[in-house]
Amino acid sequence: MGTELSALHTGGVVIIDFGSQYTQLIARKVREQNVYSEIVHAEITYDEILEREPAAIILSGGPSSVFEEKAPSFDESILNTKLPILGICYGLQLLAHHNGGLVESTGEGEYGFAEIKVNNFSGLFENIPKKSQVWMSHMDRVTKLPDGWEVLAYSSNQIIASMSNKDQSRVATQFHPEVAHSHEGVSILRNFLFNIAHCSDNWTAGNFIEEQIGLIKEKVGNSNVLVGVSGGVDSSVVAALIHKAIGSQSTSVLIDHGLMRMNEAKNCVTALQEGLGVNIKSYDESEKFLSKLSGLEDPEQKRKVIGKQFITSFEHIAKKYDNMDFLAQGTLYPDVIESGVSKGSSAHVIKSHHNVGGLPDRMNFQLIEPLRELFKDEVRKVGEELGIPHTLIQRHPFPGPGLAVRIIGDVTKKRVSILQKADQIYLDILHEDEIYHDIWQAFSVLIPVKTVGVMGDQRTYENLLGIRAVTSTDGMTADWYRMPSKTLTKISNRIINSVPGINRVVYDITSKPPGTIEWE
Ligand code: XMP
Repeated sequence: MGTELSALHTGGVVIIDFGSQYTQLIARKVREQNVYSEIVHAEITYDEILEREPAAIILSGGPSSVFEEKAPSFDESILNTKLPILGICYGLQLLAHHNGGLVESTGEGEYGFAEIKVNNFSGLFENIPKKSQVWMSHMDRVTKLPDGWEVLAYSSNQIIASMSNKDQSRVATQFHPEVAHSHEGVSILRNFLFNIAHCSDNWTAGNFIEEQIGLIKEKVGNSNVLVGVSGGVDSSVVAALIHKAIGSQSTSVLIDHGLMRMNEAKNCVTALQEGLGVNIKSYDESEKFLSKLSGLEDPEQKRKVIGKQFITSFEHIAKKYDNMDFLAQGTLYPDVIESGVSKGSSAHVIKSHHNVGGLPDRMNFQLIEPLRELFKDEVRKVGEELGIPHTLIQRHPFPGPGLAVRIIGDVTKKRVSILQKADQIYLDILHEDEIYHDIWQAFSVLIPVKTVGVMGDQRTYENLLGIRAVTSTDGMTADWYRMPSKTLTKISNRIINSVPGINRVVYDITSKPPGTIEWE
């Protein structure tokens, strides 16, 4: 992004993060309404907020009590702004406390589902039904309103669920409108964004692309850009976007470590090259990766070896392109938030969970990261808008170290091939039965433990295959997917009948926590 604020970045929402687990969700829900939102740390000053030219401020929830000494300190002049403010949960309590209301802890909170009853149907609750279900997660509550304020809704146990000042330039909800369990949450947020704050709704994939094209052209000038493509969604979108901006000044390279899903490297290259005209070349480095992995069983060792080999391969290949000044990466907004940039520090962290590990500074590239303002769901929209095939864009997440962490123990060419075949069948069936998109991530794990079976009149003694499918919103927590038994039957039959080397299939029913999604 350039330093000048573009039209796309004004008239949006600044979200002050007081540490809620839902802050990113608030930002995404606002952006789903095509309104730009930016998460900022509680230590931001009011002037820094004004520099962003927002139309409104949202105060997030958080784990503290307003009267605790450890409550996050912040610039209180923010609360006197002329801009409309929506306080959510802790944000509601802050507004109450600051304006002379009373917040108390009775030792009894409200967690989970609650029903609210609306008192005042103007502004925030316009066109909202009298009763609806919401999601609560709080210990403290407001027991006395600030002077001149009114209750907009109560929850069924008479706790103040929403309140506002007279002209609704300050509105607040004790519940979480950003959480899907709050049935009217989206409408309530929309009422705030559009009825109360008059935000601009121009944050769209099309506008984003148009703006980025201008910025990339400006940044790159006559120089050349190298794009490292991993076969995944983010880097494919970067490749397509940079190509659209500067055409032949960009070159994409895909390092095929041989640990991708079946045909994945090929399909990615075909989609970008034939579909969009991206100048991309794939390098088959699989023998090198496999030889480095040979004999390794420890998952962390595998990850390290893959990360290191990736750098070696990339450096070697990049030498062939010695006229490149920029390296483009698929860093996303959650990485930027986590790396602390939003706290105002200029720290610039290369995506550490990137499939390939960070590339070393000595490579002397300037970085270009056109997706650093986007959430994953927005990257997908941009990808679709750029014309990348739906099947590539909507694929489940895939770990950078690939199948190496899905083959328990030693990774060999034969084992990779068995797992690729089985996994392909598994995913094909999820598509056939139209449940692929109900699942956040599905994959198979090769467990080289031999068990006895019988096929026809023959005794078999082959490997075990684990299959996993989870539902999740961000991979941080996950539940196992309740797979229909007819689908499970089909998967087991087809894999055992057609993949030599596997004679038993088991379904993983572990949630996260306590398990992780991947097995290694
Ligand atoms: P876990 O296993 O930690 O996985 O519950 C959470 C999500 O992260 C992915 N994952 C990785 N992605 N490099 C990646 O790029 C990695 O080393 C890695 N390990 C796990 C995993 O597939 C899941 O989506």
